[in-house]
Amino acid sequence: MFKTMIEPFRIKSVEPIRMTTRAQRERLLEEAKLNVFKLRADDVLLDWLTDSGTGAMSSAQWAAIMLGDESYAGSPSFFRLEAVVRDITGMHHFVPTHQGRAAEKVLFTAVCKRGDLVPNNCHFDTTRANLEFNGVEAVDLVIPEGLQPSLIHPFKGNIDLDRLEQTLRTDGKRIPFGMITVTNNTGGGQPVSMANIRAASELLKAHGKPLILDVCRFAENAMFIKRREPGYANKTIKEICQEMFSYADGATMSAKKDGMVNIGGFIVLRDDKWIDKVREMLILTEGFPTYGGLAGRDLEALAVGLVEGMEEDYLLYRLRTAEYLGEKLEAAGIGFVKPTGGHAVYIDAKTVLPDMPVSKYPAWSLCNALYLTGGIRGVEVGSVMFGKHLDDGTETYHTMELVRLAFPRRMYTQSHFDYAAEAIAEVKADAKLVRGVKIVKQSQYLRHFTADFGWA
Ligand code: F0G
Repeated sequence: MFKTMIEPFRIKSVEPIRMTTRAQRERLLEEAKLNVFKLRADDVLLDWLTDSGTGAMSSAQWAAIMLGDESYAGSPSFFRLEAVVRDITGMHHFVPTHQGRAAEKVLFTAVCKRGDLVPNNCHFDTTRANLEFNGVEAVDLVIPEGLQPSLIHPFKGNIDLDRLEQTLRTDGKRIPFGMITVTNNTGGGQPVSMANIRAASELLKAHGKPLILDVCRFAENAMFIKRREPGYANKTIKEICQEMFSYADGATMSAKKDGMVNIGGFIVLRDDKWIDKVREMLILTEGFPTYGGLAGRDLEALAVGLVEGMEEDYLLYRLRTAEYLGEKLEAAGIGFVKPTGGHAVYIDAKTVLPDMPVSKYPAWSLCNALYLTGGIRGVEVGSVMFGKHLDDGTETYHTMELVRLAFPRRMYTQSHFDYAAEAIAEVKADAKLVRGVKIVKQSQYLRHFTADFGWA
């Protein structure tokens, strides 16, 4: 009935945002070696670095926290959460971890061996790094549409089934399992259709390979399916999630996303084959199997959060938020990954800085400019994150130069998004003033987190 979709919550507790001037931000960014990861959060106005663990918990979650039982072994908080997870996933084995990458590390170390290959639509950076650290090749097989930022397609996160089949044929012996990431974070927060998950699962099964889903944003993916895939409009989000999980043999989860909590993760597995090794690894690095690196209170907050994350009013508002900022960027002539994804808007830096060569890292440079102009902190998803400095001194670059603005859950209101749109348009208007960067110091893995930069 109304055009304005309101935030489906009221605010009970507030956190102040500290205002800064451009001159202050120039000094702060220099001190941070031109790397926004090194800024203090107090010096950021809109912190859209990540939607991971940064959201606001509900009053029901805070209340549940008081029920947390901190027993080392067999805590009732574990069993409450296990029941919720089993209900949604239909999987018998539930193994909590302290966050998503811990789930990856534990599962991959238990199951993969050097020389293996794992296909995925797109591996998230920690997933790729954890595989590569174990000597496993991580192969991205997203459909070609998924690599073209401005192309509209309802399910740009889909895995390319032909290439998956080809890979299974040529490298089958090296493949311990296939993966699909929902939603496809690295490819723009794009959803994967139910038909694609089902077909990939059947293909893998025909070759005797299990399917492991990376389900950080499973509820957002389900909402996209409900809105876009024929046959799902009248199903509940939970029913859609249950069907999605029914095609998988296991999953890794960062609960810091659709689990609506500040910390947490888990592994689920359908059958017994890997579970003993997984638990062994878990005890070695995370903790006893009934807490897995989390406090009992964290398990309680997650049990409530998983259910709240599937609420339809919330998910509608959530997807609309990204869409709304997308409309404003479109009006300002700024390119972004279309259609907008669930948790974030990915600005195509090449449309803002068309003349900057990739060797000056345009997406990183745009990210810095957004901070300088608007105090906004986003994250580069481009050649710093995915390029490599090879031993022979040469550099490799990524196909896309994106800046991701990821939205913490239930944290920011419409005026924050209006402000951001204004600031981004301002950067575009003054694009010739945006300076490129060079890498001065870097690490071998996940270099974007810690690298030092200088002006190029
Ligand atoms: N898989 C995906 C698809 C992710 O997006 C993330 C985290 C992880 C795994 C790892 O989970 O952080 O709990 O260890 N993504 C965050 C982000 C960091 O900003 O997108 P984690």
